[in-house]
Amino acid sequence: MSAIKFFTGEEIPLEMHKVRIVQKLNLPTVERRLEAITEAGNNTFLLNNADIFLDMLTDSGVNAMSDNQLASMMQADDSYAGSATFTRLADKLKEIFGKKHFLPAHQGRACENILASGLVKPGDVVPMNFHFTTVKAHITRCGGRVEEVVSDEGLVTTSDNLFKGNTDLKKLRKVIEENGAEKIPFFRLEAGTNLIGGQPFSLQNMRDIRALLDEFGIMLVLDASLLQDNLFFIKTREEQCKDMTIREITRAIADMSDIIYFSARKLGSARGGGIVFNDDKIKEQLQELVPMFEGFLTYGGMSVREMEAIAVGLEETMDMDMISQGPLFIEYMVNELQKHGVPVVTPAGGLGCHLNAMEFLPHIPQSEYPAGALAAAMYIAGGVRGMERGTLSEQREADGSERFAEMELLRLAMPRRVFTLSQVKYAIDRIVWLHENRELVGGLRFVEEPKTLRFFFGRLAPVSDWQEKLVAKFRADFGESL
Ligand code: F0G
Repeated sequence: MSAIKFFTGEEIPLEMHKVRIVQKLNLPTVERRLEAITEAGNNTFLLNNADIFLDMLTDSGVNAMSDNQLASMMQADDSYAGSATFTRLADKLKEIFGKKHFLPAHQGRACENILASGLVKPGDVVPMNFHFTTVKAHITRCGGRVEEVVSDEGLVTTSDNLFKGNTDLKKLRKVIEENGAEKIPFFRLEAGTNLIGGQPFSLQNMRDIRALLDEFGIMLVLDASLLQDNLFFIKTREEQCKDMTIREITRAIADMSDIIYFSARKLGSARGGGIVFNDDKIKEQLQELVPMFEGFLTYGGMSVREMEAIAVGLEETMDMDMISQGPLFIEYMVNELQKHGVPVVTPAGGLGCHLNAMEFLPHIPQSEYPAGALAAAMYIAGGVRGMERGTLSEQREADGSERFAEMELLRLAMPRRVFTLSQVKYAIDRIVWLHENRELVGGLRFVEEPKTLRFFFGRLAPVSDWQEKLVAKFRADFGESL
């Protein structure tokens, strides 16, 4: 993708695929957008797709599938046990990761449930570069505690550190020494670290982690859900790895992992999940949980059609043309927004473009959810749906007080090979307009606040009539335009 130069010198990412199936989009009027976000309680999770123009909520289960993936679905074998589809997927995983055992599960959090249920005991501590919401919930449910040991730079929103997902070895050693290795069932390393902006770890950092864990005999569990972005960044940003193939980098990472699990809603561009490892003892510990919670050992709750598509998707993940599309589109979006002074997380990561709501809307206190307000405003401004990643996504403290998030981000995910560059340009245009008019945006307050997972189901209202004013300004600036 990046190897093609334009005669005019223009620098834009060029798609190395063509679109052969399309879905019609609808862009409602700005007046309807205001209505829709009000109906949704200002929570973008509660919007209906019919009201959305560009759905940038997530890249989970919504990446475009290839012709070969769709074709493979036709050969799926529905047998309850011993399905040929299982063998095909297991063989592909073995070929790529070099692990003997494969336990299937219906998605990433189901793998986390199995791993936590089988390996985490009350009082255990699980260090990780950074948590993801679902894994933290499962470890806590099993009586364990999560300790984050990401490098300090990981939490700096604007940075030129190319590997913000790296683990701070000193922090990790301290957690091990303070708690004792026997309390640590495993260290979890997340590829393409989601909640800090899709930021990668370097292969060198992983080698250093492995050496430290070996000192204490601690297992390394890799969350490979966002591995495809991390592979791209290792190849393009880590000098010593530039001559390695994607397959070689993948194998180097796998060889240092005792257990690898993944959401195939991301890795493999279909819908499902799985856990791979070599150790027979681990198989004994985990295997029985699969038929209990997921399905028989040869499908694990997945549709066999999806399993076929995952096997092909995994093979396609070894292709730079395929895995570069997301990061290059995101980099383009980040660069263009920076040119217009819009505060974004840098360097550009995988997964999506992250707006820094704390700087975008400095006049909104965290108690009025700046990232949530930005998500609602972004939808009104352009019919673009993003995901709040800030205080709304936190849970209140036991005493009922707010736990203010370290970062207030609006994540605009970039589903792979789904949007065209002109659609991305449209999103940039509406963000720039919103930034010019940022003083019009006000905060939100809860009107219905569930005790758990409030970001999924909670309903909020604007603290003033700022949304009507924003619509009026849109009409004044854009006239009859949608
Ligand atoms: N691990 C990571 C790093 C993830 O990003 C996700 C999901 C999971 C595990 C859980 O996988 O959804 O298949 O159960 N991330 C989605 C997102 C939800 O929108 O970022 P799952």
